[in-house]
Amino acid sequence: MTVVMGIETSCDETGVGFVKDGVLLGDALASSIDEHVRFGGVVPEIAARAHVQAMVPTMRAALEDAGLAWHEVGAVAVTAGPGLATALHVGVAAAKATALALGVPLYGVHHLAGHAAADTLVHGPLPDRSIVLIVSGGHTSLLAVDDLVRTPIVHLSDTLDDAAGEAFDKVARLLGLPYPGGPSIDRIAREGDPTAVRFTRPLMTPRDPALGFSFSGLKSAVARYVAGPQDPGVSVADVAASFQECVADTVVTKAIRACRQEGVDTLVIVGGVAANSRVRSLAEERCAEAGIELRVPPMRLCTDNGAMIAAIGDLLVRDGARPSVPELGARSSVP
Ligand code: KG4
Ligand code: ZN
Repeated sequence: MTVVMGIETSCDETGVGFVKDGVLLGDALASSIDEHVRFGGVVPEIAARAHVQAMVPTMRAALEDAGLAWHEVGAVAVTAGPGLATALHVGVAAAKATALALGVPLYGVHHLAGHAAADTLVHGPLPDRSIVLIVSGGHTSLLAVDDLVRTPIVHLSDTLDDAAGEAFDKVARLLGLPYPGGPSIDRIAREGDPTAVRFTRPLMTPRDPALGFSFSGLKSAVARYVAGPQDPGVSVADVAASFQECVADTVVTKAIRACRQEGVDTLVIVGGVAANSRVRSLAEERCAEAGIELRVPPMRLCTDNGAMIAAIGDLLVRDGARPSVPELGARSSVP
């Protein structure tokens, strides 16, 4: 059995994890998020420089967390895309150097497949068919997954504009809440009334794409509400809670619709926004009503991390997949 090292650098997190035969042995994470706060979003050059600085210490910390020595590592997996090109290059270069030095195979993997694989570390292998909802800062996608490595993942839908996490980040900025917006809104929304402002659920009329997502109109609606004459007694917490309710309602409704459409009774929710407390509670309620098994990994495996990349790498290794070519490069967008 092979110990697989996973490296993730697609955005602002430097993640390294070790997985063997579906079991997470240990991992470590460094984040440059504090350096991006004053820009209100991730600055690719800053993220890349931070990855270069954090890579070796994060590798060492993960190795120590797993109680491993370098000679025990049998394969290296790395996020080859999608993500910020400059950031991805750091991870790919580090992975190549490590694989070369250790004389072990290298696997370039898809970031979204990594997100989906994260759940297998806690709930075991995925069933024969499942729907995976990926809600992160860069993606809002519904996938139909039969087997994470053997059969092509079917992309059912995407966002037409902003990703769900991006909407959280932009709306937080409008409300004067600190970046990253998701956790800020989640926190303040606990004190707010989710029914205070009824924001229109995007793409919910019968003429709209049944599984499609769109969040830029919702962001504009919040902007108009904030700029316009405000209802007396409606607080920032109320607006945040109302916005969060709208996003949660939208993503959960469409995910359950996808399960029905595909005749699937397992829903996996991953990505940074899966950490949202209302997305979680609403998904639990609605899945229970619909008889759908809900799988959501713990928060630290929902956001970007190295363990999820090691998880998909481990599945590939165990399936006997061919390693990537030495010319492997990073790609910012990958089908
Ligand atoms: O998956 P992730 O770590 O990185 C990407 O691949 O994008 O997701 C980051 C996104 C950010 O937009 C962040 O605001 C959002 O996930 N996020 C949340 C929460 N925690 C993180 N959104 C809503 N509620 C949260 N608790
Ligand atoms: Zn991600």
